[in-house]
Amino acid sequence: MCQKIVFTNFKIEEMNTVKLIDLPKILDKRGNLSFFENNNQIPFEIKRTYWIYDVPGGETRGSHAFKEQQEFIIALSGSFDVVLNDGKEERTYSMNRSYYGLYIPPMMWRKIDNFSTNSLALIVSDRAFAETDYIRDLEEFMMIKFK
Ligand code: TYD
Repeated sequence: MCQKIVFTNFKIEEMNTVKLIDLPKILDKRGNLSFFENNNQIPFEIKRTYWIYDVPGGETRGSHAFKEQQEFIIALSGSFDVVLNDGKEERTYSMNRSYYGLYIPPMMWRKIDNFSTNSLALIVSDRAFAETDYIRDLEEFMMIKFK
């Protein structure tokens, strides 16, 4: 028997909910300083911080979506591209300065590639790690988006 699977809890976000966010920049001849705070520069409360580093040339990270997790990604050092797909549209965000970041709502297929040598991607998220929040299959992601 064929069962219909109903996904009622997922937010079906569109590309226009993604935001590049400029962070405060305290210019100083001794060196510049930027920051962000919970619910201030970024629209959620931080529960987890992780970072991606020592990425060999040509490698890709990500290639998944989160059912509920929101994230904010900054290129603390070097550069990389964040490629987002909301199921209808794909956009590439070039991250190459530490004074802005990319807010990514849930239910965006995302990959990170084109890492420069010694690049450092800082990622903060609104929840603890949970493999059950991942969608790692593009077909499953599309099915949820267009059920
Ligand atoms: P994953 O999120 O798939 O990496 P990426 O999206 O950057 O390619 O995570 C890779 C592995 O690390 C996976 O086995 C889960 C584990 N992991 C944690 O244990 N805690 C974390 O906070 C993260 C982000 C990943």
